[in-house]
Amino acid sequence: MKKVAVLILAFTLMAFYVVNSYSAAEKDPLASRVPADQMAAAKAMKNPVASNPANIAKGKELFTGKATCFTCHGENGDGNGPAGAALDPSPRNFTNGKFHAAKTDGELFWVVKNGSAGTSMISYAPSVITEQEAWEIITFVRTLKK
Ligand code: HEC
Repeated sequence: MKKVAVLILAFTLMAFYVVNSYSAAEKDPLASRVPADQMAAAKAMKNPVASNPANIAKGKELFTGKATCFTCHGENGDGNGPAGAALDPSPRNFTNGKFHAAKTDGELFWVVKNGSAGTSMISYAPSVITEQEAWEIITFVRTLKK
């Protein structure tokens, strides 16, 4: 019986892998993830981190290291990280200029703090990174647009 159970589990995992090896699409990258009643406050937030080479380097180090953003969003932020391939909706592609134009830093900060409901984008601040580090990462993410 145990062998059968192990085989069933193995086949289920294989089927799951095959289904998920086709990357899912991004959910509308232009629509805000901030609830309407918090939108004004989110948009009013100012990024306290100046966009200069030292701060951008700090944000990059966090993004590609301890903050683990790269695992889903990819080393170069194109949304193709190894852990992102199986996700539906797929991680944001930060090289998309239209995405950057559509949202303020405060709206992005809100998502890093609260997550995006119904997706694998969970809250990272303050559990994994400080709020200051979240702003540093956002400052770096802004430089990825093409
Ligand atoms: C487990 C995978 C995963 C990790 C790790 C991850 N993200 Fe995400 N992220 C996602 C997914 C999936 C989405 C798309 C969510 C959606 O479409 O609403 C997303 C979306 C975003 C967005 C876009 C929000 C918007 O308004 O469109 C930002 C900003 C973001 N992530 C920042 C980060 C930062 C910063 C980190 C690291 C601290 C991080 N993410 C780590 C999966 C991840």
